[in-house]
Amino acid sequence: MRRDDTIESVRFRRLALLETATEKIIKPARNLTGTLRLPGDKSISHRYAMLAGLAEGASTFSNFSTGADCASSLGCVAALGAKVEWLEDGRVTVTGVANSFHQPTTHLDCGNSGSTMRMMSGLLAAQAGEFTLVGDASLSRRPMERIRKPLAEMGAQITLTEGHAPVVVRGSALTGIDYTTPIPSAQVKTALLFAGMQAEGTTTIRESVRTRDHGELAIRAFGATVERTLDSVSITGKQKLKAIEAEIPGDISSAAFFLCAAALFPESNLVLDGLGLNPTRATLLDVLTALGATVAVLNLEEKNTELIGTVQLNAPAKGLGGTTVSGALAAQLIDELPVLAAIAPYSRNGIRIRDAKELRVKESDRIALVVKNLHAMGAEVEEFEDGLDVPGGQRLHGAQIDSGGDHRIAMAFSVAALRAEGETAILGAESAAISFPEFFDMLENVAER
Ligand code: S3P
Repeated sequence: MRRDDTIESVRFRRLALLETATEKIIKPARNLTGTLRLPGDKSISHRYAMLAGLAEGASTFSNFSTGADCASSLGCVAALGAKVEWLEDGRVTVTGVANSFHQPTTHLDCGNSGSTMRMMSGLLAAQAGEFTLVGDASLSRRPMERIRKPLAEMGAQITLTEGHAPVVVRGSALTGIDYTTPIPSAQVKTALLFAGMQAEGTTTIRESVRTRDHGELAIRAFGATVERTLDSVSITGKQKLKAIEAEIPGDISSAAFFLCAAALFPESNLVLDGLGLNPTRATLLDVLTALGATVAVLNLEEKNTELIGTVQLNAPAKGLGGTTVSGALAAQLIDELPVLAAIAPYSRNGIRIRDAKELRVKESDRIALVVKNLHAMGAEVEEFEDGLDVPGGQRLHGAQIDSGGDHRIAMAFSVAALRAEGETAILGAESAAISFPEFFDMLENVAER
C-alpha cells in the first residue's frame, strides 16, 4: 500500500481484481512443503473495522485481511464518517466517529460480503439517520430476514425487498431482547450484539451451537462488557468503545486450503505461523486429526482476546481415512466444508456431510457447485438437501471448474486439482480475491512438482 492510499483507491483496486475474468491452470503436484503466514482473519477484520469505526479514537491494525470483503466493511465505515488510512508498513488505521455515525451521502456498498451487510445492519439500527445497504448479485440473493426479524423485535425499522437486499435501516431507539437464533449464525449473533450494545437494557442471544465468538471477543477488546453462559451471550446497552491496537491473526479458513492440500501428500510438511486458533474456528484441525493427519500446535499466545499460534501438519503415510461431519460440527466447519468435500475422493473411506443446508445460501449454492465440479473431475458423489456423500478411493482427472464466482469453490477445487491426473482450469479464479488475493501465489510456493 502507498502512503497516500485512501479507502476509495484501495477498494477500487481490490474490486478491479474481481472484474477481470481470470482462468487459472492448476497442475498436479508431487508434494506440499513450506512455511506460510496467512493474511488476517476475515471475520475478525470485519468486526474490528466496524467497532473501530464507531469507537472513540484511532485504532491501528496489523495484518488486516487483504480480501475485497473486508475492504467493503472499511468502505462502509469510511462512508459513515470514520477515517481509514493505510500506513506505509501495511497497517490500517481507523479513526472512529465516537459513537455517532454520520449520515452517508451514498448507499453503503457491501459488495459480495454477507458479514458486512448483516453486521452493519445491527450496528446501524440504533444510529440516527437512514442507511441503505446494497450488494452485488450474489449478496442480493442471500437471506436477510434472519437479521430483520430480531432487530425489529428490538424496535429497529428495517425494510427488505422480499427478504433480500437492499436493506434500508432507519435508526431508532432500541430495547434489549432475549432471542434464540433459529439457525446457528455468528453473523446474526454479532448483529444483535452490535445493536444490543447501543440499546436500552440487556440483550441475550441463545444458540444451540456455539458459533464463532469473534463478535463477543472483539467487543471485549474494545473495552465493553459481554457476559457468557454455556449456551448464551448477553450484553448490556449504552456501552462505549475505546480504540485499540491489534495484530490480526492469520485466517484459519484460508489456511484450510493449505492444510487440506498438505493432508493429501504423505511426504508433506506444512508450517503455518501466526495463525488464528480460536477454538470456535479450529474444528478443522480435529477433523484432519480424525482423518489420520498429525497436527501439532507448536506455540500459542493470546493477543487482544484471540488465540494465535503456529501449527504443523504432516499427512498420514497410508492416506486419509474417512469421517462424518454432521450436527454442531457442520455449523462450526461451515466455511471449510467445500474443501473437505473436494479432498474426500482421495481419502480411503470417504467423507459424509449432513446438517449443512446453510451451504445452499452462501455466496453460491455450495452443495450444488461442489457436486457439479466433483462430477466434472470424474468423481462419484451423492447429493442430499443438507449435504453430500463422497466415497473414498477415487481417481480424479483434470477438468474445467465452474467457481460460480464463489471464492471458496475456486480455492477448494484448486486443492483437488493437485492430486488429479492432468491439468485443471479454474474458471472465475479472480473470485479468490474476495477473501484471499494471495492464494494462487502462495499455493505455487508450497506445491512441489
Ligand atoms: C461468519 C459467519 C458464517 C461464515 C461466514 C463468516 C462471521 O456465516 O459462513 O463466512 O464472520 O460471522 P453465518 O453467520 O451465516 O453462519
